Amino acid sequence: MSTAAETVRPGLSADIRRVAVIGGGTMGNGIAQVFATSGMDVRLVDAKGDLVERALATLAKNLERVAAKQSWPAGRAEEILHRVSGGVELSAAKDCEVVVEAVSEDFALKRRVFETLDSLAPAGAVLATNTSSISITEIAACTKRPDRVIGMHFMNPVPVMPLVEIIRGLATSDATCALTEDLSRRLGKTPVAVSDFPGFVSNRVLMPMINEACFALMEGVATKESIDAVMKLGMNHPMGPLQLADLIGLDTCLSIMEVLHEGFGDSKYRPCPLLRKMVKAGWLGRKTGRGFYEYPARP
Ligand code: NAI
Repeated sequence: MSTAAETVRPGLSADIRRVAVIGGGTMGNGIAQVFATSGMDVRLVDAKGDLVERALATLAKNLERVAAKQSWPAGRAEEILHRVSGGVELSAAKDCEVVVEAVSEDFALKRRVFETLDSLAPAGAVLATNTSSISITEIAACTKRPDRVIGMHFMNPVPVMPLVEIIRGLATSDATCALTEDLSRRLGKTPVAVSDFPGFVSNRVLMPMINEACFALMEGVATKESIDAVMKLGMNHPMGPLQLADLIGLDTCLSIMEVLHEGFGDSKYRPCPLLRKMVKAGWLGRKTGRGFYEYPARP
């Protein structure tokens, strides 16, 4: 008897009913929200029970906010939330047609997660990673299904941003690419295909700008407010680079700069010492309440 995943038609996402999202932090939470809102059942997995509880509570709050803003009919937010179940075991992926990994940006961790997912998820399932910068080819090589591993790079905040950068590893099949692009459209997103090079397109262009803003701050060229104001008012960016770094997470920004630095071997990508120092201090941005700016806890 074939599993649901083995019967998925190449290139068509309409058959996808169950998705596992691994990691319920900033990105995993948003990814779970868009899948559930598009009618799919979601298994949301994090490392510990309290983190799962926190992820589900955040998801409920975010859905309530969207419901109020978009005047959803009564019960719609609850119905969506009902499609999401939380847990701590990767075996939640065992009956899913697609898995999206969104654990912290650390290759050793992602390798462990992909090796385990490869042994647990149905043979036909697509394993996607939301990595910002790690090589898709290298992640795929940790599995026995490199043709079914792909980068599905959502932007932050996921429910709001229309782009999904689709990154094809060296061994990724045409069918996996077509399926993932179709699935992104089903989520109401616009997929853009790029090749597997350090930082892909989004972070190769964005992160050096953020890193340079850190250097400008460290060197006393201007205050953080002035740096952000120049980029907002002068370049028409919706938020300044330091505000954006706080939103992304300074640990994530640092990991991406390290990948660019190592991947291209070019000193122009050296991470700013101030960025390193802030990560060492645990000032990671919004998620820890302090980064370049301070964020009082919301009641
Ligand atoms: P985060 O730190 O907010 O969340 C990571 C989550 O992974 C945490 O909840 C953590 O407990 C969980 N986790 C760690 N080990 C785990 C394990 N073994 N099993 C299950 N869960 C585990 O990080 P964030 O920002 O959500 O980033 C996740 C991924 O998305 C990273 O690869 C990052 O590069 C990427 N990304 C981040 C963006 C951003 O703006 N923050 C934008 C696009 C991609």
